Amino acid sequence: MSCSINLKDISYKKDEKILFENISFDLGHKEKIAIIGKNGVGKSTLLKIIAGLKNQNSGTIDIFHNRINKKEDYEKYRDEIAYLPQDIDNFFLSITVIEDVMFSLLALGVKKDEAYKKSLDILKSLDILHLENRVIYDLSGGEKKLVALAAILVKEPKILLLDEPTNNLDEDSEKKLIDILNNIEKSMIIISHQKTFIDSLVTKIYILEEKTLKVY
Ligand SMILES: Nc1ncnc2c1ncn2[C@@H]1O[C@H](COP(=O)(O)OP(=O)(O)OP(=O)(O)O)[C@@H](O)[C@H]1O
Ligand SMILES: [Mg+2]
Repeated sequence: MSCSINLKDISYKKDEKILFENISFDLGHKEKIAIIGKNGVGKSTLLKIIAGLKNQNSGTIDIFHNRINKKEDYEKYRDEIAYLPQDIDNFFLSITVIEDVMFSLLALGVKKDEAYKKSLDILKSLDILHLENRVIYDLSGGEKKLVALAAILVKEPKILLLDEPTNNLDEDSEKKLIDILNNIEKSMIIISHQKTFIDSLVTKIYILEEKTLKVY
């Protein structure tokens, strides 16, 4: 099977406390999976390890069948892996919505006109075009979440790592997000507590409990 990510025997402990041991799974090409589990079991920690933001104590991670041995190995995939953190307060780098969504495209060398057009398109697809010139700081929690999603989707990554994407979203926005994510043919790992949300999106659900990851 062609895989986007292969995890093998990942273990992580924090100050002698073992969070999880020997976690293994494969994320197939364009496969969507979910990870559930109680508060504090280590779901976000696992996603940060996969995103290259934390180091595991042991075990291996392969991305597109290439072994990731050190932080620099991630650099090759930086633009292909999009990570939406659970807490997005420190996520934004610009003042206004449109600036923030355009920011990463401009950093990639995309011309300003094209970056603007692509950013408008993505805002439109998330139904938040009306927020274009708003100051991010003033947005509601749910609005911020949608803007953060726009900022990662605009780069057209191949893998999406989404940590509780429906946090703060009302029912309508959640439905919209299900439609959007269902229409995106990319590999995804989604952490969520909302069963109805993940049931309508993923083909496989894992549960993190008792320091291990099991098929739910
Ligand atoms: N930087 C840190 N320093 C100390 N402890 C931490 C740190 N980050 C996480 N932890 C602890 O590690 C454990 C796992 O945290 P994590 O955020 O991965 O859980 P989670 O499964 O995502 O929980 P939730 O459902 O509440 O988001 C928790 O006990 C948390 O307090
Ligand atoms: Mg978490």
